[in-house]
Amino acid sequence: FQNEFTWGKAVSTNSIQEFHEKFEKSLDGAKKELGKKYPIIVNGKEIYSDENFTVNSPANTQIKIAEFPKSSISDTNNAISSAKNAFEEWSGMPFQKRIKSFRDCADYFSSKKFFLASIMTFENGKNRIEAMGDVDEAIDFMRFYAYQMEKNDGFCKQTYHPSPNEKTQVIMKPYGVWGIISPFNFPSAIAIGMSTGALITGNTVVLKPASDTPLSSFYFAKYLFSKIPAGAINFVTGSGSIVGKTLIESQSVDGIAFTGSREVGLRGFQEFTKTTTKPFISEMGGKNPTIVTKNADLEKAVNGVMNAAFGYGGQKCSACSRVYVQNEIADKFIEKLVEKTKEIKIGMPWEKDVFLGPIINSDAKSKFEDASKIAKTDGHILTGGSLIKTDLFENGYFVQPTIVEKLPEGHKLMKEELFLPFLCVQRYENFDDAIKLANKSEYGLTAGIFSEDKNQLEEFFSKIHSGVVYANRSASATTAALVSSQPFVGWKNSGTTGKGAGGENYLQQFLRTQTQTHCD
Ligand code: ALA
Repeated sequence: FQNEFTWGKAVSTNSIQEFHEKFEKSLDGAKKELGKKYPIIVNGKEIYSDENFTVNSPANTQIKIAEFPKSSISDTNNAISSAKNAFEEWSGMPFQKRIKSFRDCADYFSSKKFFLASIMTFENGKNRIEAMGDVDEAIDFMRFYAYQMEKNDGFCKQTYHPSPNEKTQVIMKPYGVWGIISPFNFPSAIAIGMSTGALITGNTVVLKPASDTPLSSFYFAKYLFSKIPAGAINFVTGSGSIVGKTLIESQSVDGIAFTGSREVGLRGFQEFTKTTTKPFISEMGGKNPTIVTKNADLEKAVNGVMNAAFGYGGQKCSACSRVYVQNEIADKFIEKLVEKTKEIKIGMPWEKDVFLGPIINSDAKSKFEDASKIAKTDGHILTGGSLIKTDLFENGYFVQPTIVEKLPEGHKLMKEELFLPFLCVQRYENFDDAIKLANKSEYGLTAGIFSEDKNQLEEFFSKIHSGVVYANRSASATTAALVSSQPFVGWKNSGTTGKGAGGENYLQQFLRTQTQTHCD
């Protein structure tokens, strides 16, 4: 099955030059789709509305991306009912038929990947390579989960029973209707990964995409809804306080898969499971540490940390936002890191060779301004700390990649997830202290280490309290987990179930066991 995968090779062309040529061509096609009115999808129908919200590009708010319906409570309830009605047919179908729908969808996405990635550069401000990585990851999720269903025979097994007159089979059955609440930062991979998990196992779905990025998620629902029973997938846009809340409060929703902030996730989890034991799968961000020891290869460490902290503007839940560097090499490491950060090419994300585009919206911009202000007072800013206001960037949310040090122990900027290109550096004396500092967080998503000392790496792996941990990952330190190879899982307040997306234990969460025994 590995041959079917892109393995995150975003540049799925013979050369980077060919990649850019193809990308360049696809931009025109993408631009033609921008600025239109789009529908929600309920019970197999595209439904337009007069009450819409507008999505503008974070890189230039004068570029209108789309208008999508501001769905109401009743629109959301209609979508839930339609998912409920479709459940019997969809779940009753042989799982091989469901697999086929997702393999077809993966093929379709593969044929459209340049178009889909181009749309994403405009809509959420990812650069070309990152946007293609997002689409590739979505394709990998579809293929990997199809493979998992096949490999596990649709999760149906005969068990041995010592008595000859009892025969048992253990099957896993879907729950019913799932609400899928997805974030802006991976509008393709995460929206599609969670939805595929629920759907391929026989559940039906109401997908609520992030309001900053509905268009990138729309194409998945649009492709699927015409291929599978009406109502099996529903796509409902609108605010979290109406659509998200209705999904979470509905008695007819049997499970929620959520990716987003800890605050919203924990509130949703508490509300959803207040009076029932229904499953709530969540992935909720992090404050991810990287330890750089005196035995590190400095080039590797600088490159890895820079990419992990500032790739997609630090707006990945896996982003590195805390670095602990050992005293002996701290000056050198910091000097090189600052130098490399200053070389980052900032620009319009759809343009060639741009590394850093805008951050997502005006709230993120205000958060950046607040954090920078606090950092100036309580610590020392090594680079960055300001908005970028030159003519080219005046209509977008562009900020300087920022590195701060000398914050007091336990400072809020070292504790709270910012989801910004904002990196805190702290020096340390002993390796043991570094691990303790790295673990001193309510989060436990990703973590990294740079050291050429094998014993240190072993100690790090045995003591670190995070779900996805990497040693000496020079390209991306704590980011860029690959589907199937590196299941993506949050510990502590980074997730509720401890099972990894893109891993072998993911699909079972959308299923419950039924033990069926026949007695003679
Ligand atoms: N899966 C994404 C990464 O690993 C979030 O960076």
